[in-house]
Amino acid sequence: MKNKNTSSRRKFLQKLSASSAALALGTKALAENQEKYVETLFRAPFSANDQVNIALIGAGIMGGEDTRTALSVPGTKLVAVCDLYDGRLKEAKTKWGNDIFTTRSYKELLNRSDIDAVIIATSDHWHQQISIDAMKAGKHVYCEKPMVHSIMEGPAVIKTQQETGKVFQVGSQGVSSLGNEKARELLKDGVIGDLNYAEGFWARHSPTGAWQYPIPDDASPQTVDWEAYISNTTKRSFDKTRFFRWRNYLDYGTGMSGDLFVHLFSSLHFITNSFGPNKVYAAGGLRYWLDGREVPDVLLGTFDYPKSNAHPAFNLSLRCNFVDGTSGTTFLRLVGSLGSMDITWDSVTVKRNKSADSDDPFMIEQMKRMGTPVTDRKRIVGPEEYTFAAERGYKGGPYDHFVNFFTAIRNKGKVVEDAVFGYRAAAPALLCNDSYNQDKAMLWDPEKMQLIKK
Ligand SMILES: NC(=O)c1ccc[n+]([C@@H]2O[C@H](COP(=O)([O-])OP(=O)(O)OC[C@H]3O[C@@H](n4cnc5c(N)ncnc54)[C@H](O)[C@@H]3O)[C@@H](O)[C@H]2O)c1
Repeated sequence: MKNKNTSSRRKFLQKLSASSAALALGTKALAENQEKYVETLFRAPFSANDQVNIALIGAGIMGGEDTRTALSVPGTKLVAVCDLYDGRLKEAKTKWGNDIFTTRSYKELLNRSDIDAVIIATSDHWHQQISIDAMKAGKHVYCEKPMVHSIMEGPAVIKTQQETGKVFQVGSQGVSSLGNEKARELLKDGVIGDLNYAEGFWARHSPTGAWQYPIPDDASPQTVDWEAYISNTTKRSFDKTRFFRWRNYLDYGTGMSGDLFVHLFSSLHFITNSFGPNKVYAAGGLRYWLDGREVPDVLLGTFDYPKSNAHPAFNLSLRCNFVDGTSGTTFLRLVGSLGSMDITWDSVTVKRNKSADSDDPFMIEQMKRMGTPVTDRKRIVGPEEYTFAAERGYKGGPYDHFVNFFTAIRNKGKVVEDAVFGYRAAAPALLCNDSYNQDKAMLWDPEKMQLIKK
């Protein structure tokens, strides 16, 4: 007689190999043994034809990272940089050469005809306006997440993208990664059964992790264009802490949810093909980083995803803790009726528990009472863990995300994380803040992308 575990495992492996073969990203090496299954994911090299000239608006931490990644894709050239702090403009020339054009005015940059695409990496409260102005000026846009600063701002970006036909991509780079692609494929193939729950977590405990960034010694109204910075929000006198630690203030940032949950929404929506949740409720508090910030340092969000054509109804739980002594942990896990998947940008680990037995002492006691034999004789078990890991040298989600952006520009194609996708990922993150601040559940129509008033 066939061993049941071996037979189901073989079926699972057959399914995995068949689905992998169908994928463009392919399967290079397949190694298996009794205990563990490990598969290597790989990506074919990218080749460029025409040069794409790019410009950076917002040359801070992420703007620098994005530009470095964009320039590592063959066929790209940086021609201009814009920032409101002179120190960043000087730094840009040091990093990328004296011949790049620099300015404090993003409108002056958009007037230049030698720019094909812009990277927008300003604080969140400028994303919408600059994105719209850039597309109207004929530029393709790579806009950092979250796409917008408030729930009301999304429709205008979508409208401008549709009217101008420009490539518009939001910067939750995990969506383009091998890890996210593999998870999407595995979920579709039913490897974890019917999805019923997902969870994500972000833990940190350090000043910079909690957004207490260094403030440059020369920060002053002379070196910072404060009036331009606050020209679309509350008028205040110059405040260098607000400028350099903007994430802590609601006029400019979107708190933990807009900064971090949005990545998890983007990956989750990509993997599940979901439009988003219809109910959002949050809890949390400001307990440790009492530096005048307006946002919590511990935030929990609970999200109800209704049944759709793409997936069954499921619940999502997200947590973020900036006072976490374990520090440095982050994960995204999808749980289904047959198992779970732990997903990163570089790997997916599937865990399946084929046994229906419980090791709960209470259950064991109940079984004994009911006369069910409880034995500690060891059984033969099938493999319970399957890991798909990117091969050594994989350039990562950020690189792939820029490749997708430039490929869409060259081929007049589409990107996955466009304005509609970006809005559907930003909306639950922004509603999570609204729920926390208003102390009530927020209702959202994920398909029509509309707030439902109670
Ligand atoms: N995708 C990711 O993994 C990721 C990671 C970090 C940050 N981000 C996003 O990137 C953006 C920037 O974050 P950061 O950490 O680099 O912040 P930062 O403060 O280091 O940089 C922002 C820069 O934008 C400039 N700026 C602000 N408003 C401007 C305007 N109107 N015109 C020109 N320049 C302007 C500031 O002077 C500053 O130098 C944020 O939206 C953030 O959410 C994304």
